[in-house]
Order: sequence, then C-alpha cells, then structure tokens
Amino acid sequence: MNITSSEFTQAADAGERYVKPLELAVVLPTYNERKNVATMIARLEKALAGIAWEVIFVDDNSPDGTSDEARRLSLINPRVRCIQRIGRRGLASAAIEGMCSTSAPIVAVMDADHQHDPELLPGMLRAVASGEFDIAYASRFAEGASTEAWGRPDRVKASGLANRIANKVTGVELTDPMSGFFMLRTQTLRADAHRLSGVGFKILLDILATVDTPLRVKEFPLNFAARAEGESKLDQTVVFEFLVGLYDKWLGRIIPTRFALFGTVGALGVLVQLGALWIMLHLVFAERFVYGNWSESTTFNIANTLAAVVAMSFNFVLNNELTYSDKRLRGFGPVMRGWAQFAVTCSLGLLTNIGAAAVLKTIGVHDVLAVITGIVLGSVWNFALSSKFVWGK
Ligand code: GDD
Ligand code: MN
Repeated sequence: MNITSSEFTQAADAGERYVKPLELAVVLPTYNERKNVATMIARLEKALAGIAWEVIFVDDNSPDGTSDEARRLSLINPRVRCIQRIGRRGLASAAIEGMCSTSAPIVAVMDADHQHDPELLPGMLRAVASGEFDIAYASRFAEGASTEAWGRPDRVKASGLANRIANKVTGVELTDPMSGFFMLRTQTLRADAHRLSGVGFKILLDILATVDTPLRVKEFPLNFAARAEGESKLDQTVVFEFLVGLYDKWLGRIIPTRFALFGTVGALGVLVQLGALWIMLHLVFAERFVYGNWSESTTFNIANTLAAVVAMSFNFVLNNELTYSDKRLRGFGPVMRGWAQFAVTCSLGLLTNIGAAAVLKTIGVHDVLAVITGIVLGSVWNFALSSKFVWGK
C-alpha cells in the first residue's frame, strides 16, 4: 500500500472536487486490470481537467489485485473509489452497480484497458449536460471511427452481425449498440435500473431497449485502440452471451435464464443419448455374437447405460462452458470432481423423475402427464442440486 512521491504530487490538486459539486462519475468495470489502473487515472486527470469528477472501479475480486491497486491510489486521490464484488462476475452487472453507486448527476461507463479514449469524455459531457441529448456514446463503426488497432477481424465481423440482430430485435438503430463506452444522466438509469437484465456485455443496448421514452442519442466516432495491458475477457462466447442477453430481456423473468440454459442443455443431452445409443448398437456392439453371447436386451441395456454416461458427460461439459461460464471449473482435478458430483446429482434427479411419475401414475394421472411432470420435477431438482453442489461455492 505504499505511495510513491511522484504519485503524491500528481494527486495534489485532487481537493478541487470539494469546492465544486460533483459533475461526472466514470465507471470502470475491471477484471484483472491491475496494470491499467494508475495509467487510466492519469489519463482521466488530464482529459477531465476543470471538471469535478470521480472514478469508480467496479472490480470482481480480480486475482491480480486490481482492487488493492485502486484502493492504494484512492488513499491519496479522493476522486478514486473502488467497489470490490466478491463471488460475482459480469461486465453488465458491474457497470449497473457502479452507475447506481454514484451521487454525480451524470455517469459514464468505459473499459479500463485503454481501448476507449478518455479524451472523448468532455465532449460527451457537454452533449448530455446541455440537455440536448439523453445519452452520448462512442461508436467504433460511426463515420470517422476506426477499429484497425483492434487487430481482430473476426470480432469486427461478429460485431456487425450482432448489430443487425440487435436492430431487428430491439428496434434500436445505432452503428455500434454493443459499445461499452457511453454516458447518460444517472437519473435516467436509476429510474429503470430494476428492469435491466445485467447479463452479458450489451448494457448500452439494454438501456436503450428498456426505457419507455426513446432516448436522444449522440454518437461520437471512436478510434478503438489496442489493449494496453492484459488480455480480453470476451472470448469466443461474445455472440453466445449476446443471444443469452436477448433471451434474458425477452423471457428471463418468466423462466430464469440459467434454468433455461440448463434445460436446453438437458434437451440436447437427450439427442446425444439417442445418437450415442444408435452408434453403439449399430457400430460398436454390432459384432456382439462374435465377441460374446449377450442377449438382445442385455446388449441394449449395456449400450444404453454407456450412452447415458456419454450424454451426462456432454451435459456436464456444456453446462460448465455455457450455463455456469461465470463459475467455470478449470483444471483436471476440479473438472473431474465436478463431473463426479454432477453424476451423483443426475442420479438423484433421475430418481425424482421416475419416482414422481410412478406416484402420479398410481393415483390415476395419465401416463404422458405423469412422465412430463416427472421430467420437470427431476430437472428442477437436478438444477437446484448442481447449482449448489457442483458449481456452488
Ligand atoms: N467487473 C467486471 N467483471 N469487469 C469485467 C468483466 C467482469 O466479469 N469482464 C470484463 N470486464 C472489464 C474489463 O476488465 C475491461 O475493463 C472491460 O470490462 C472490457 O472488457 P474486455 O475484456 O477488454 O472486452 P473487449 O475489449 O474484448 O470487448 C469490447 O467490445 C465489447 C463489444 O464487442 C468492450 O468494449 C466491451 O465493453 C464491448 O461490450
Ligand atoms: Mn478490451
């Protein structure tokens, strides 16, 4: 927690905030951005000279100690605040919590990795503070913008596709609705914050699609820079996260998103089991009369047991990658342990499934209804148990 003397000099004029009411808060969601913290603060100091501002790091307990670094610097700079969230992950929810935590009348959200240029902030602030616009945002695809330094043509393409889907689904027409760099009146956000989904990465789009009155939007062309330190946390799952976000917005309140994902994976598992069974019966055990003297039904039972294990493993992997991507188990040991725990939970789910159907049938419920109720109860039980025991902690 040591402060160097040059850092102390840099912070010397930070008291300004107390002679002028706070005008702007800059929310920086962070995950493993320790090396970018000090340099971001320095760039904000430069870009926002003359403005009363604060910066709020919303850090999801990064293992690299981003929170420690932000707190260390806040000791000498009252403009710096830090929210350290424990056991949570997610850019959108971090941005929402940061925005709701400030007293400033206007709030901006930016990436902390220097891909967004803080020099745009004063212009954005003028647009919003004047009352002419409700929201200002920086677009990577507006005229005069550039994404060359991104060096990720795949991401540029995925962004283009996501934009088109977004325009269709929400009716919001922006050149870059997925932008993570925007500014609005805190009041606008607060009024609707309870209706935002907080899932995935499309927070700006979420705000625009959620508020009832259409917002007047001012676009600023952004030169999307290369990341300064560390690496992107948006991997191959950007498009997936985006689709999940759309679902969450649409039906998430009726059937919770995680349960819907779990159920979808389960349904795919049924197909996998059927496919695996077919392969075993037709290819693997086709020569059963050569290798052994199993009866037709023994062969079927053995093949089906193996197929069920394949399907269960498939479900485990998919749930680990997608349904619980924020709590993903990594490394050989944790994955094997998780797989074994998942096998136990699935067996309990199956008992519930079959048991419930049997009970319903004895009291005279129709077969199909009994089976479906069994499946639903088994799935809920399965979901509850694995949420707690496999991906719990
Ligand atoms: N608190 C928190 N929790 N912060 C996170 C998390 C998280 O789970 N994941 C990422 N962040 C932070 C990063 O530390 C960084 O400051 C910022 O959010 C953006 O994350 P990157 O990992 O750098 O994203 P990117 O550069 O690949 O993605 C860019 O494009 C997206 C749309 O295509 C960003 O501009 C995103 O904001 C944008 O939505
Ligand atoms: Mn980035």
